[in-house]
Amino acid sequence: MTRVYLSPPDVGNEERRLLLDAFDSNWIAPLGPHVDAFEREVAERIDVPAALALSSGTAALHLALILLGIQPGDDVLVPTQTFIATANVVTYVGARPVLVDSDPTTWTIDPALVADELERRARQGRLPAALVTVDLYGQCADYDRLLRTCAEFEVPVLEDAAEALGATYDARPAGSFGSAGVFSFNGNKIITTSGGGMLVSNDASLVDRARHLSTQAREPVVHYEHLAVGFNYRLSNLLAAVGRGQLRGLDERVTRRRAINEHYRAALSHLPGIAFMPVASYGHPNYWLSCILVDSDIFGAGGEDIRLALEALDIESRPTWKPLHLQPVYADAPTVGGAVAASIFERGLCLPSGSRMSAADLDRVTETIGTLAR
Ligand SMILES: Cc1ncc(COP(=O)(O)O)c(C=O)c1O
Repeated sequence: MTRVYLSPPDVGNEERRLLLDAFDSNWIAPLGPHVDAFEREVAERIDVPAALALSSGTAALHLALILLGIQPGDDVLVPTQTFIATANVVTYVGARPVLVDSDPTTWTIDPALVADELERRARQGRLPAALVTVDLYGQCADYDRLLRTCAEFEVPVLEDAAEALGATYDARPAGSFGSAGVFSFNGNKIITTSGGGMLVSNDASLVDRARHLSTQAREPVVHYEHLAVGFNYRLSNLLAAVGRGQLRGLDERVTRRRAINEHYRAALSHLPGIAFMPVASYGHPNYWLSCILVDSDIFGAGGEDIRLALEALDIESRPTWKPLHLQPVYADAPTVGGAVAASIFERGLCLPSGSRMSAADLDRVTETIGTLAR
């Protein structure tokens, strides 16, 4: 039996055909027809006027912060429960991440804490330069509340939708909510280009300026002329071809991951001490990863016991994101709460959720967990 990974790539003949088309046409470059088409197709899907294909989600977040004007010395609110890239990009631009706790009913950034923090800082005349939201494990943050608060204090919002392509909030696509949104096509995401990312925005001029910065800020003249310091952040035409094929199967992949989530819920929800990541009523997640909370006193074993039991069968599972305020590298970052995210981390486990996972593998996971129950 082959190893069951947490969220492996799911690529097929369409991706292969498009990749070979890129190869055979000799567009082996960080530009070309597949890059242009991939940008158009993602923009259409997200219902935004412009998109920019980049070498990673991290690169897209970095450029977005620069274009939002974040400066050295600024503070930027970031959820503490996320992958570290969300905060690292704040550090790249010389600003300081301020780590905000999760809402226990969605696991995404707590809108009440964001409102309190903005009110407190407004009174002191030191509002943050931006808020970065994260659509965690494919579930959107609570945009009605967050956008209302941020509009009141004129704080721009950057949406880190790296994990959430295909999710919706109030029937609108993830990625379309902030001044800019970011997707990742890293190998473990719901669709992948092996590595890659996309910046999207309702502001086409922001995307144009990002495009300029992503190609070493080269001026449009024949010789090499530069007025600003840029980056080499573009996505290769070969990888964009793979991304186009993946995008065509996005809805199927969301449907499949939702079915996996339903399978886990049907088999495990009744077990005392097991709870699932809550699904908020305001939208539809893409169910990128199915995550559970394990109360070891009630269940009879902890998340790590489950992880090890699955690992013994060559099945990968993983603790939920370790909150950034508990990461040594961000030990000095200011925090707003943190107990909710810490408690999710103590009990949280991400179960294998790949869209190719077989029914037999799903049963092996749920049966193994079942045997550990008291
Ligand atoms: C929430 C979040 N933000 C940012 C990233 C960074 O994306 P990338 O790996 O494409 O740089 C990831 C995933 O990798 C992520 O999960």
